[in-house]
Amino acid sequence: MKEQGELQGNEHIREENSGESEPHPADSLSSDFRGLKVLVTGGMGFIGSNLARRLADWGSEVVVVDSIEPNTGANPANLRGFDDRIKICKLNLRDCSETTELFECQDVIFNLAGRVSHIDSMTDPLSDLSANVHGHLALLEACRRRAPKARIVFASTRQIYGKPNTCPVGEDHPLQPVDINGIHKVAAEAYHSLYHRIHGMQIVSLRLTNTYGPRMRVKDARQTFLGIWLRRALDGDAIEVWGGDQMRDLTYVDDALDAFCLAATCPAAQGRIFNVGGSPPLTLLELAEILIAIAGNGRIEIKEFPPDHKRIDIGDYFADDKLLRGITGWSPRVALRDGLTRTLEYFRHCLSDYV
Ligand SMILES: NC(=O)c1ccc[n+]([C@@H]2O[C@H](COP(=O)([O-])OP(=O)(O)OC[C@H]3O[C@@H](n4cnc5c(N)ncnc54)[C@H](O)[C@@H]3O)[C@@H](O)[C@H]2O)c1
Repeated sequence: MKEQGELQGNEHIREENSGESEPHPADSLSSDFRGLKVLVTGGMGFIGSNLARRLADWGSEVVVVDSIEPNTGANPANLRGFDDRIKICKLNLRDCSETTELFECQDVIFNLAGRVSHIDSMTDPLSDLSANVHGHLALLEACRRRAPKARIVFASTRQIYGKPNTCPVGEDHPLQPVDINGIHKVAAEAYHSLYHRIHGMQIVSLRLTNTYGPRMRVKDARQTFLGIWLRRALDGDAIEVWGGDQMRDLTYVDDALDAFCLAATCPAAQGRIFNVGGSPPLTLLELAEILIAIAGNGRIEIKEFPPDHKRIDIGDYFADDKLLRGITGWSPRVALRDGLTRTLEYFRHCLSDYV
């Protein structure tokens, strides 16, 4: 384990949630969203489906737009049981100029559509360009024309920082992406900022770190390494840890949803870009050990990075998310062990829907 003193500038190491229930600004959000018209792009995928379900439970009128891309987290099981409460529209964001009426009257648009695989972006860069750049520009244009007053929250990523110069990483860290996906996310985030600046639209971007929880992709490591680790732990197989001493922070999906909903409703957040962190940082090896202990199954195999992954590895990353905390009052509420326990529990019951 790395000593805390080795972590440059890491004066604000986050405390793990103590479990005490103090009022949280997200507690009162359900009444803010009741009756609102909300569109979730990428809503068949991991984070988007969890968000769509929460909003439907809160009484929002929810439309999901998703092209159901192969090799993403898109999965019909994610919205099972919500057919009567969530309208699903199969549409590629690229083509949204053809159905701009979908965007009219929306109060909030959570823009989570995208391809997330870094390695796929290196072998098929043009598909990544289409999904992660063209699609978002088309969405912004549709909103500018038909929904200029809608509040938009865009799912950006910590990948755009590339290999951090120092951790924790603040929003002012240089953007130096190490892969095609990261470059495309920089462009998409920049379009969102531009549409706020030039067209006065209410837009917030959230730079997410590794997010995990029920409904994530566990079939392979396309979404995050943790997906395949969870599956291997459940199956009692070997978890391959490449390297092992890289530091990471993780966000449980419910905490990410709090961040999205607070970003949409907080006036002072409009036009801003925020990091979203989560659990206190730990090494990948420590994470694998905790996962195996909780699962009561699996084992660790330390391996060298495969060369194609090594080339785009970012080393250590963990976020400085003081800005988000200060402006919206957000803080993560689900401790890593609880989050992993809940995630394993979910997949124990329905792994077959995901593999
Ligand atoms: N999961 C993470 O750890 C993580 C970390 C950082 C950022 N993000 C960002 O959060 C967003 C959601 O991630 P996720 O993990 O839920 O991914 P996911 O793969 O589970 O979901 C993405 C969804 O977007 C859809 N989609 C892709 N391209 C589309 C297009 N052109 N038009 C319409 N739909 C399209 C896919 O079909 C899929 O259902 C992504 O934009 C991703 O970059 C996720």
